[in-house]
Amino acid sequence: MGETRLEMATTSTIIEEEDIYRVPADRMLLKVLLVVLCGVPASVSGGSEAQQGPLPLLMVSFDGFRADYLQRFPMPNLKLLYSQGVLVEQITNVFITKTFPNHYTLVTGLYAESHGILASHMYDPVSHKYFHAGQGVDPMWWSKAQPLWITALDSGYKTAAMMWPGSDVLISNRTATHFLPYDVSVTFRQRIGNVTKWLLGNGKEPGVKFAALYWEEPDTSGHKYGPDDTAAMSKVLKEVDDNIGLLVSKLKSTGLWGRINIVITSDHGMAQLSAKRIIRLDDCVHPDEYTLVDSSPVAAILPHEDSKTIFSRLSTCHPHMTAYLKRDIPDRLHYRNNERIQPIILVADEGWTIVQRGNTLSKMGDHGYDNSLPSMHPFMVAAGPSFREGYRISSLRSVDIYPLMCHLLSVPPQPNNGSLIQARCLLAAEACGNLSLGISLVLGILLVLATVILLFRWRRKHWQSRSRAFQRLQMDDDVEPLFE
Ligand SMILES: *[C@@H]1O[C@H](CO)[C@@H](O)[C@H](O)[C@H]1NC(C)=O
Ligand SMILES: *[C@@H]1O[C@H](CO)[C@@H](O)[C@H](O)[C@H]1NC(C)=O
Ligand SMILES: *[C@@H]1O[C@H](CO)[C@@H](O)[C@H](O)[C@H]1NC(C)=O
Ligand SMILES: [Zn+2]
Repeated sequence: MGETRLEMATTSTIIEEEDIYRVPADRMLLKVLLVVLCGVPASVSGGSEAQQGPLPLLMVSFDGFRADYLQRFPMPNLKLLYSQGVLVEQITNVFITKTFPNHYTLVTGLYAESHGILASHMYDPVSHKYFHAGQGVDPMWWSKAQPLWITALDSGYKTAAMMWPGSDVLISNRTATHFLPYDVSVTFRQRIGNVTKWLLGNGKEPGVKFAALYWEEPDTSGHKYGPDDTAAMSKVLKEVDDNIGLLVSKLKSTGLWGRINIVITSDHGMAQLSAKRIIRLDDCVHPDEYTLVDSSPVAAILPHEDSKTIFSRLSTCHPHMTAYLKRDIPDRLHYRNNERIQPIILVADEGWTIVQRGNTLSKMGDHGYDNSLPSMHPFMVAAGPSFREGYRISSLRSVDIYPLMCHLLSVPPQPNNGSLIQARCLLAAEACGNLSLGISLVLGILLVLATVILLFRWRRKHWQSRSRAFQRLQMDDDVEPLFE
């Protein structure tokens, strides 16, 4: 879209110059206004890529990067990056705030109930299959949606998925052009090394237009130590920030920097757990009476016998746990219309852990809680020629990131739950937000243009009337020879 506008702006500017003496000033002013509003920002940001189609887009997820880590820890490389781009302070992610559901949302723009990856552990009552995150690549679980790395193939682009959940699954019978399945032993440097190679392409093959890259920290450490362990978290967030520095320097050394758009985000935040905040299901129902399909903090319960009795015992089980019959799960969670959602779900309050069979707390941090909790929210930073510079907004929904990426890539989006209305203000080519600066700039340019036009008009009229007066004088001379 940026390119189309750039061309439009150039053509109409030429017409304007040729027509300057013929078009009435007010109509011309309108035309100039349109060119200024649409053309100038696009030509500033669009660069010279008009012929090569949209710029490549790299999306990076740092798993479990809670939004307020940005305020609590120094993160110099990340801060430098968003000072040159945009920052969304909080992303409202989707319920349940777990890794797999939210990573699939980022690349589909769908709520979990619509993309079908509802939890880390699922049971499908139709096929009687079980799903365990990270084990197996059965396409059946993923096939209700299509991730961007597949959809973009249909626009003729090459794509890459580096260890992103679903990377190695055949979805619509395809994978990204390049992918690597999840392997914890592959370092960030190696992942970046492969991704930049794919972005660059080689003599025979063009580079990929869309790449998705996954990194498991600060999630792993957040679970182990808990987000309140400032010493441990500052160590891992320094490593994450060093990796961001590594990413930027790799893009610079390969010449990709300045001709690529980058989105850095995450799937969810992290809440502090405590051995004092345990909810024991065994106090209320015997473990043989139901199957625990998914555990804490959102327990998915498949009752073996009478649902009603089990539900009534669970609903009064603990003051820090809410039990829902499937049909009563609140609309705002968008977590009801799917057969993979079990008859009863139990939602723990922030920081509480649901345990079964006498288990105790095995970690200090967790996520999965209600997606309205700020502790569950990640952030987003984006930079590159298509983004504004030094701009920030307080929040955006994670479902809105997919339409933004489709827009950047000029890929027709699949049906989704997001919208471009808010996200488009992050783009350099849009005239929304920062109104005072934008409007005064535009008004200033218009004032100068209007003065120039009026001056031209005045000079033209003045010159015409002078020459007409001269003609009349000559005619008069002819008609009235007696005056001589
Ligand atoms: C999947 O793709 C392979 C090769 O690309 C092809 O041979 C096969 O027929 C396809 N299967 C389906 C179900 O479309
Ligand atoms: C790509 O990843 C592999 C591991 O799968 C690694 O051995 C290799 O060094 C990486 N390539 C680059 C260029 O970093
Ligand atoms: C989300 O999008 C899907 C696909 O268009 C649609 O079927 C579903 O109804 C949407 N959900 C909501 C809550 O609008
Ligand atoms: Zn995660």
